[in-house]
Amino acid sequence: MSTAISPTAYNYKVVRQFAIMTVVWGILGMGLGVFIASQLVWPELNFGLAWTSFGRLRPLHTNLVIFAFGGCALFATSYYVVQRTCQTRLISDSLAAFTFWGWQAVIVGAIVTLPMGFTTTKEYAELEWPLAILLAIVWVTYGLVFFGTIVKRKTKHIYVGNWFYGAFIVVTAMLHIVNHASLPVSFFKSYSAYSGATDAMIQWWYGHNAVGFFLTTGFLGMMYYFVPKQAERPIYSYRLSIVHFWALITLYIWAGPHHLHYTALPDWAQSLGMAMSIILLAPSWGGMINGMMTLSGAWHKLRTDPILRFLVVSLAFYGMSTFEGPMMAIKTVNSLSHYTDWTIGHVHAGALGWVAMISIGAIYHMIPKLFGRAQMHSIALINTHFWLATIGTVLYIASMWVNGITQGLMWRAINDDGTLTYSFVEALQASHPGFIVRALGGAFFASGMLFMAYNVWRTVRASNPAEAKAAEQIAVVGAH
Ligand code: HEM
Ligand code: HEM
Repeated sequence: MSTAISPTAYNYKVVRQFAIMTVVWGILGMGLGVFIASQLVWPELNFGLAWTSFGRLRPLHTNLVIFAFGGCALFATSYYVVQRTCQTRLISDSLAAFTFWGWQAVIVGAIVTLPMGFTTTKEYAELEWPLAILLAIVWVTYGLVFFGTIVKRKTKHIYVGNWFYGAFIVVTAMLHIVNHASLPVSFFKSYSAYSGATDAMIQWWYGHNAVGFFLTTGFLGMMYYFVPKQAERPIYSYRLSIVHFWALITLYIWAGPHHLHYTALPDWAQSLGMAMSIILLAPSWGGMINGMMTLSGAWHKLRTDPILRFLVVSLAFYGMSTFEGPMMAIKTVNSLSHYTDWTIGHVHAGALGWVAMISIGAIYHMIPKLFGRAQMHSIALINTHFWLATIGTVLYIASMWVNGITQGLMWRAINDDGTLTYSFVEALQASHPGFIVRALGGAFFASGMLFMAYNVWRTVRASNPAEAKAAEQIAVVGAH
């Protein structure tokens, strides 16, 4: 079998743009995470100004890391994967360019409006209606580019990674549009179309599925391409990938009420959310096991390949957080964990350990290919980054477990006469050492991103435009 060069080329320009911005937004978003973590240690860092206060910067952190960093990683990898697995160029260069510039415009809009205090107050859906509309338009265009490319594919089969990316794109559009239904009263203020417990339920149907489809399904698409590629092994079980795909998307959509335990939401809905969350362990672990087992016969590569290490450790954290999540969804466990730092630890086990690590591994895999280089400028620096990221994540989540359980137990402790044993401030004081360790862990993780930026910059600088152009050619396998 030989490989011929076809006259048409992949659109790598948009992939390069999104890949570079993933690193840029990663540094900003995580740097801001370290800053707000430090505010919890040293409240003076709020500077007494409204727009630098924790309350305004926290949503900016979540928007930057989820939508800017995670979003750009998903755009970059999905455009790369869909072209390579469909053996065809993106259906439209101009629409793809629109998604890049439109997405950056939404992010800049968030950076301006959130510190100014413009917010819908719905978590992860804070952006006010003009930005929400722009986001919806960009997203629908993304769907057109992605599915249009699938339609014009040269291969018969639709590779499973694309199924995951496809579900992530469709469901995110649905969640965003339904949850954002609102009545604008001015350019910067709107009121939700829903009220009371219904509003809360719609918001957490959105919030949980933002986790399920944005932070999980999209990244599973990434996993299904980059793990086999980097390990140079086929997926362990194609059948398992299909079974856990359908199980995952069928179950996730029901689990939202676990965010609303012991609230005004009807009890049956809470119990349903709990039951669905527990069952969700099975398809989640299906994906984790499928990824891990892909390494059978290639485990030795972990000794020398830090990119593969990023990908495999991300799967381990995915497995860990999707075990922890169903446990926290059990009402009696949630009565201890809810409102405490345990939730924050769980979030970052998923966010740092899974989402960020798999994205970092995928970007390291793609950058040399996108810029026509054999490999990254420095493998040793990738290794340093790997250890900073791993140690940082462990420090973050371990400190939050200790804090979370301490807080939960102190809040519920009561004396014989029924009065509270501890005041809120005492629980806060007990949390202080954990806050310091978390800020340190975050600083480890964020500094790793600086090494990445340097490494990427050196790789890009050394790139040869002619080789980069050649890398864009569609290799037609099997042609003579
Ligand atoms: C250097 C790395 C990071 C640090 C130091 C950091 C720090 C923080 C801090 C201090 C909070 C507020 C916690 C609180 O209110 O008590 C937070 C919230 C949050 N962060 Fe991060 N973060 C980092 C990276 C990330 C990444 C990469 C993601 C996602 C991909 C992420 C997603 C979130 C989310 C979703 C929340 C809100 C959690 C909730 O409301 O339960 N973070 N982060
Ligand atoms: C089977 C999988 C999972 C289940 C059943 C699950 C369950 C839960 C539960 C019960 C909570 C606490 C709700 C509360 O007390 O308020 C929670 C919070 C959260 N989880 Fe998970 N989780 C899962 C996987 C993940 C993964 C992989 C990620 C990240 C990539 C993640 C991100 C989050 C976030 C961001 C929150 C905080 C939401 C908020 O209050 O702002 N979860 N999850």
